[in-house]
Amino acid sequence: MNKPVVSYQLQNQLGIIHIDNPPVNALSHPVRAGIMSALALAAKDTSLALLILCRGRTFIAGADITEFGKPPLEPHLPDVITAIESSPKPVVAALHGNALGGGLEVALAAHYRCSVATTKLGLPEVKLGLLPGAGGTQRLPRVVGVEAALDMMTSGTPISAHKARELGLVDEVLEGELESTATDYANRLIAEGAPVRATGAQRADAPDSADFYDQYRSKISRKSRGQIAPGFIIELAELATHTDIDEGQAVERERFIECRNSPQASAMQYVFFAERATGKLGDIPKDTPVLPVQSVAVIGAGTMGGGIAMCLANAGIPVTLVETQQEFLDRGMATIKKNYATSVKRGRFSQEQADAFLANFSGTTNYADIGDVDIVIEAVFENMDIKKEVFAKLDASCKPGCILATNTSYLNVDEIAATTNRPQQVIGAHFFSPANVMKLLEVVRTEKTSPEVVQTFMKLAKKIGKIPVAVGVCNGFVGNRMLKGYARQAQLLLLEGASPEQIDQAMQTWGMAMGPIAVGDLAGLDIGYRSRRDQGIESRSVKESALADTLVEMERLGQKSGAGYYRYDAQTRERQSDPEVASLIENIAAQLNVKRREINDSEIVERLVLALVNEGAAILKEGIAARPSDIDIVYLNGYGFPAWRGGPMYYADTLGLDIVIDKLNALKALTGDPCWEPSALILEISEASMTLGSLN
Ligand code: 3HC
Ligand code: NAI
Repeated sequence: MNKPVVSYQLQNQLGIIHIDNPPVNALSHPVRAGIMSALALAAKDTSLALLILCRGRTFIAGADITEFGKPPLEPHLPDVITAIESSPKPVVAALHGNALGGGLEVALAAHYRCSVATTKLGLPEVKLGLLPGAGGTQRLPRVVGVEAALDMMTSGTPISAHKARELGLVDEVLEGELESTATDYANRLIAEGAPVRATGAQRADAPDSADFYDQYRSKISRKSRGQIAPGFIIELAELATHTDIDEGQAVERERFIECRNSPQASAMQYVFFAERATGKLGDIPKDTPVLPVQSVAVIGAGTMGGGIAMCLANAGIPVTLVETQQEFLDRGMATIKKNYATSVKRGRFSQEQADAFLANFSGTTNYADIGDVDIVIEAVFENMDIKKEVFAKLDASCKPGCILATNTSYLNVDEIAATTNRPQQVIGAHFFSPANVMKLLEVVRTEKTSPEVVQTFMKLAKKIGKIPVAVGVCNGFVGNRMLKGYARQAQLLLLEGASPEQIDQAMQTWGMAMGPIAVGDLAGLDIGYRSRRDQGIESRSVKESALADTLVEMERLGQKSGAGYYRYDAQTRERQSDPEVASLIENIAAQLNVKRREINDSEIVERLVLALVNEGAAILKEGIAARPSDIDIVYLNGYGFPAWRGGPMYYADTLGLDIVIDKLNALKALTGDPCWEPSALILEISEASMTLGSLN
């Protein structure tokens, strides 16, 4: 017989409800039913208080996401929550691991909350296109106040147990083993005659300032452009200040169902599982041995090397920076120290944490000093000759088992690997800038990289907080290869008549974190310029880079030089339109005989997004990405694609592949550009009446 997922046991005067539903104690139907049965048993016995405790690695991590979209089964979660809060005997929730979503809502319905110090508490529903749907929007503001509740609910970011204690969300931080300390705490409440304390009984305090909600709305609209749930969350938190809990919960339920049935929620739930699927590699068994990683060396203490080293140091891994000269090492370390100081100032880390991270750093200019490290990550200039020279040196100075990784953006990792006597231990590790912030890591497998090395890197990536996506070798791998066509369309649109402002605004309104022109200015126009010259492409000889080449030659490199496509205020860095650029574009278009016309926003969006879709499909066909969802994860985490649209491949399916093909053909007819030839994979899948998603 299966072990019950919820059990109830009377221990002296304390009734203990144990939940045991691995892996994360999600509130699946048997758990909800089990809690109701336990409450019924407790109502009839001699217990004076109840304790909800979870087995395994975590408290309840939320509703069971796999049940969304299936017919709902009674008891519904809001009813379970109401039953907990209505218990005539005090209910105590004992938290460990993660108390998230429906899990935190269960805890909020309990009358007292105790927690071990390491617990994370949060309402992450917004990340799934939802809002808390089991009383969270009504109870959290009643416990921690409207502003703190909104911060938690609109960001979805969990808080620590200590922070929760400060906010009054946790009554007691437990020290020691969970079950015994929680039991002691609950028995103490019994001894003190602690009463039932229903959160829903009072209302939340209204914020002091009259325009609080307007201000909060405008703050949020910038961050969550296009998403429906955050607006509802603000409305519901306000409701908690002036309605009874039942009334508030009824409105919450309506809004929750509206979100749950929305395409945004489907997309974001797809993303949740897609993110977890990237680690599953069809040709590499799960039990493939992982090599030990005790220490790492990073070659090059520049922009990327410094950021990569910080990720490693933050995860407790000793890291040695290697530079060509002491001066460059000092410069790199100074930047790293400055970055930590900023993080401390912004409250991201405490000073003690930053000091502990810094203690993991060492530096050298001598390759002989890194003979014992387990992994080397190279982040020197993007130049094949320099990379080959560095890899030859590494091969000669590092111990035989050491893995050699390159952070190249575009170069052929097979070619780099071939310069060593250990090509099976060479891999690409394409971090994104700023490397200590961006979550994406493209793990580039060469023809010869061994399964152990791939597995080791995938695990290391998780350890340092990254989302690893395994990709194959090609120019630009998945992300930058797709970006090329996207950025190209943006350049052509400029010449054909769209302004930088129009393009950026159209893409931002569609949901991109930033428009492509502003991204160019942020990244620096000189990078592409140098790369084109390295490839032997003459300045201004190509239509789609003529403008960028001209700007660089005018010393307009983007934000770093105060001007690029836009001008930037020296103090505030705020961007301003520049009429000089508008006339420059017109001149270049005239020189290149590009006919200018009025371009509407939907053409901008269509051309940019379909360029991603078509190239993504070609990448899939070539086997550079293992599945469409991997491409989506790359775009969401590396390029600011809106999560609520699921990613370019998911978006193509939502449009319908037949419509995608029609649009591609129409663009081909309009522009005569062969790039719009529908990718073979899209034609095949559409022909078979399937979706790209069926390849996941
Ligand atoms: N429902 C169903 N399955 C879940 C789940 C959930 N809520 N949360 C995690 N899982 C599954 C994962 O898919 C994964 O399955 P797999 O092993 O088959 O791939 C497994 O549990 C382990 O998850 P992770 O790999 O993510 O494990 P971690 O230890 O890295 O992270 C976690 C644990 C922080 C709990 C993370 O899983 C997480 O953030 N889960 C989602 C939490 C969440 O969003 N909760 C809100 C749900 S919506 C809700 O509650 C609505 C309510 O308001 C009505
Ligand atoms: P950078 O110019 O900021 O830093 C390169 C560093 O390498 C310099 O400090 C230089 O002194 C050092 N260096 C050069 N030759 C060396 C050698 N032989 N031994 C040791 N150190 C050496 O360059 P950045 O931007 O950090 O780029 C590094 C790599 O990361 C490149 O391959 C680039 O394509 C890639 N990359 C860059 C991204 C970015 O946005 N900047 C994003 C992703 C990858």
